[in-house]
Amino acid sequence: MFRISRAGLCQLLSGSLLFLFFSASCVQVDAAQVARGQDNRASEADRFVNDLLSRMTLEEKIGQMSQIALNSPEGPKRDERILKGEVGSLLFVRDPVEINRLQHLAMEKSRLHIPLLFGFDVIHGYRTIYPVPLALAASWDPATAERAQRMAAREASAVGIRWTFAPMVDIARDPRWGRIMEGAGEDPYLGSRMAEAQVRGFQGDKLSDADSILACVKHFAGYGAAVGGRDYDSSDLSEEQLRNVYLPPYQAAIKAGAGSLMSAYMDLNGVPATGNRWLLHDLLRKEWGFRGFVVSDWDSVLSLTTHGFTSGPEDAAVRAVHAGVDMEMTSTTFRDHLADAVKKGLVPQSEIDDAVRWILLAKYKLGLFKNPYVSLDRAQKELVSEEQRTASRSIATRTAVLLRNEGGLLPLKRDVTSIALIGPLIDSRPDVMGSWSLGSHPEDTVTVVEGFERSLASTGTKILSTKGVEIERGQPSIFDDQFPSPKPTLTTDAAKEAEFHHAIDLVKQADVAVLVLGEAQTMNGERASRSTLTLPGKQQQLLEAAVATGKPVVLVLVNGRPLDITWASEHVPAILDVWYPGTEAGNAIAALVFGNAVPGGKLPVTWPRSVGQVPLYYAHNLTQIPKDRDTRYWDGSSAPLYPFGYGLSYATFSLAPMKTSATTVHSGGSVEVSVEVQNTGGLAGDEVVQLYTHQRSGSASRPVRELKGFRRIALKPGERQTVTLTLDTKELGFWSPQTHRWSIEPGVFDLWIGTDSNATQHATLDVTPQP
Ligand code: NOJ
Repeated sequence: MFRISRAGLCQLLSGSLLFLFFSASCVQVDAAQVARGQDNRASEADRFVNDLLSRMTLEEKIGQMSQIALNSPEGPKRDERILKGEVGSLLFVRDPVEINRLQHLAMEKSRLHIPLLFGFDVIHGYRTIYPVPLALAASWDPATAERAQRMAAREASAVGIRWTFAPMVDIARDPRWGRIMEGAGEDPYLGSRMAEAQVRGFQGDKLSDADSILACVKHFAGYGAAVGGRDYDSSDLSEEQLRNVYLPPYQAAIKAGAGSLMSAYMDLNGVPATGNRWLLHDLLRKEWGFRGFVVSDWDSVLSLTTHGFTSGPEDAAVRAVHAGVDMEMTSTTFRDHLADAVKKGLVPQSEIDDAVRWILLAKYKLGLFKNPYVSLDRAQKELVSEEQRTASRSIATRTAVLLRNEGGLLPLKRDVTSIALIGPLIDSRPDVMGSWSLGSHPEDTVTVVEGFERSLASTGTKILSTKGVEIERGQPSIFDDQFPSPKPTLTTDAAKEAEFHHAIDLVKQADVAVLVLGEAQTMNGERASRSTLTLPGKQQQLLEAAVATGKPVVLVLVNGRPLDITWASEHVPAILDVWYPGTEAGNAIAALVFGNAVPGGKLPVTWPRSVGQVPLYYAHNLTQIPKDRDTRYWDGSSAPLYPFGYGLSYATFSLAPMKTSATTVHSGGSVEVSVEVQNTGGLAGDEVVQLYTHQRSGSASRPVRELKGFRRIALKPGERQTVTLTLDTKELGFWSPQTHRWSIEPGVFDLWIGTDSNATQHATLDVTPQP
C-alpha cells in the first residue's frame, strides 16, 4: 500500500515541482522488497541470492561480511577460515596464482561454494599508472577519465582483482588535505561528471564481463571537509552544504550504477560516518535506493570506540551493522562479536540478512559464481602492454594545465644547442607516479630525463641534467614498508651546496632551462596533509637562482594539490602543471614541452596565492560590500592566483557573442546556450567552454557562480566550431535550508559563458513556475 501510494505521488510530482532526487526514492521503496524476494518482480539474481541465503548458517553469513587484508595477522589460519566460509573478501592479494588458489578453496572446498571477492585500490591504474584523479578532472573531459579507468579495470582484472576502492568522489576545497589529489577537486558539477565517468570506466558495459571491476564510491560522506585539511579530522557540514556540494557526486556515481560504497573514517557533524545511520540508511538506502553494498574503511568499525562513540568492539559491531555497514574492512569486530550479539538479541537477524544479500548480489552480478577464476595468460599479455602505455601517455598529455606562457616560450624548439634539465624529480621513478601506485613496478616508469633523451635523440641538442636539490620527504608514507621512497643521495651540507651550484652552472651553460619541481609521491594521499603549500625543501631557492641567471626558464610542476607559486607566477615565463602523470611521465612531459602534444586541461580547483587564503573556492556566497570582494584581507588579496577552470594552450581562441535559445523558460524545461569558438593561433589545440549560472534571489543565498555545463573541443588553426550546451532547469535546483527540500525556485538567473570561472559573456534567464 505504502509502495503504491508513494509511486502515485511520484507520478503526480513529476509534472510539478522538481524534486531532483525524489525519483530515486520512488524506485528505492521497492528495492529492498525486491531483493528479499517479497515482490514478484524479483530478478533471477535476487532469487539465486535468497535461496543461497536460506541455506547459510549465521557464521557463514558473518563470514561474507568480513574482509581480511593480505598483511593481516591471520597466518595459516587464513586458509582455514576460507574453508569454513568465514571470509567474504580479501584485499591487497594480487598474485593471480594465489588468487586462484584461494578462490579454489572457497569454490571447491567450502560448504556453500561462495566465491571470494578480491579488492585493491585501483585508483589511477594498477600496474600501468595513469594520472591521479585530480589530473583526470583537469582534463575536463569525462571520456578521458572513463578511458583511464577502463584501462585500469582491464589490467587489474587480468590478475583477478574484481573490486576497486574507487572512485573517490569527495569534494575538497582545502589543498592542505593530502587526499585532494584522489578526487575531482572543488566542484559538485565537475565532480559528478567525473564520478559517473569513472564508474562507467571501472564497471564497463556489463559487470559480469571478465574485464569489469566493481566500483566503490568513497568515502561517504564529507571526508574532504576535514577541519584544517588534516586527514582523518572531523567534518562539520550543514545539511545545505552536504546536500548541495558534497553529496551530488555520490548520487551521480550511484545513478551510474556504482556497485559498492565505502563509509568514511571521520565524524560527520559529531557522528562517526561508519556508525551514522542517517547517512548509511535513511539517506543512502531509503532516500536514494542504493542497491549495492557498504564496506567500512580500514578498521573504521573498530575505530568507533576511538571516536568515543561505542563502548568497545561488540558495541562497535552492533552499531555499525545497525547503521548500515555490510562488510567490515580489516578489523574483526563482526567476526568476533556479531554471532553472540545476534544470539543476545542485540542485532536483529534481518539486519544480517540484508547486509549479506547485498554482498552476494554484487558477487552474482560480477559473474563470480559462474566464473570465479582468472585466466593466467591474461596477466602475461595485458600488464604494461603497449596499449596500456599509449593510453597512459595520451591521457597524461590531456590532463596537463598550462598556467603561464609569456612570449610563447613553450613549446620549446628542439634544435637549440643545449637544455638544462634540473630538479629532484627528473629521474625519480616512483615520485612521478603519485600516491596510489602500489601495484606498479617503478622500473616500468619513464623518467623525465629518459623522455627528453628519446624526444631529442635525432637532434644534436645536449641535455645537461642534474637534480640540484634533494627533495625533503618528511615523514615516511603509510605505504613505506611496501613501497619505500628513494633514498637521498646528497647527505652532507657540503654535497648539497656543491650540487646546488652545479645545477646553476648547467643553467648558465644552456640555452634554456627546464626545472621539474614539486612534491614527492608521499606528500599527497592518505595521512599526507601539508600545513604549507610552498615547494618543499630548497626548490624555491633553486628556482630563484635559475631565473636569476637570465636564461629562459620553464617550470614543470609535479604535484597533487595547488601549490604556492605566487613568486613563480610573476617571474618564471612558462609554467606547466603535469600533476602526477604516471608510468609514461617522461614521454608525456617531453611531448608537451616540445609541442608534440598541446596542453588543454583546466584547473579543477581554485589555485590560492598562499596557504593563508584556504579554503578558497569560486562558488562562494557573496554577503556584503561587493566592491570589496577582492580585498577581504588587510595584508593581501583575497582573489585566487588562478581561478577554477583556468588553463592556457599553445593555441589562442576567440569567442563570438553568446546566444541563448530563450530568455524565459519554465521550471522543468531547458534552454540552449551556444557560442562560436575560433582557434586564432598557429597550432591546433583544445579549448573548454564553460557555462556558469547564478540565482539572483530565492529562499536562500546561492553561490556567486556555479558550473552547470562544459565541453572540451579540439580546433585546428583558423577552425571555428559552435558549442551548444543544454541547460536543463533541473540543474538550477538546490536543496534549500528554508524549505528543506530540493526544488527549482522561479526567478531571474545570470548565465555566463567563457573559458574559466571568471567568464565575462553574460545573459539573463527568467525561470517561470511550471505551467
Ligand atoms: C584506507 C583508505 O582511506 C581507503 O581509501 C582505502 O581504500 C583503504 N584504506 C584500503 O586500502
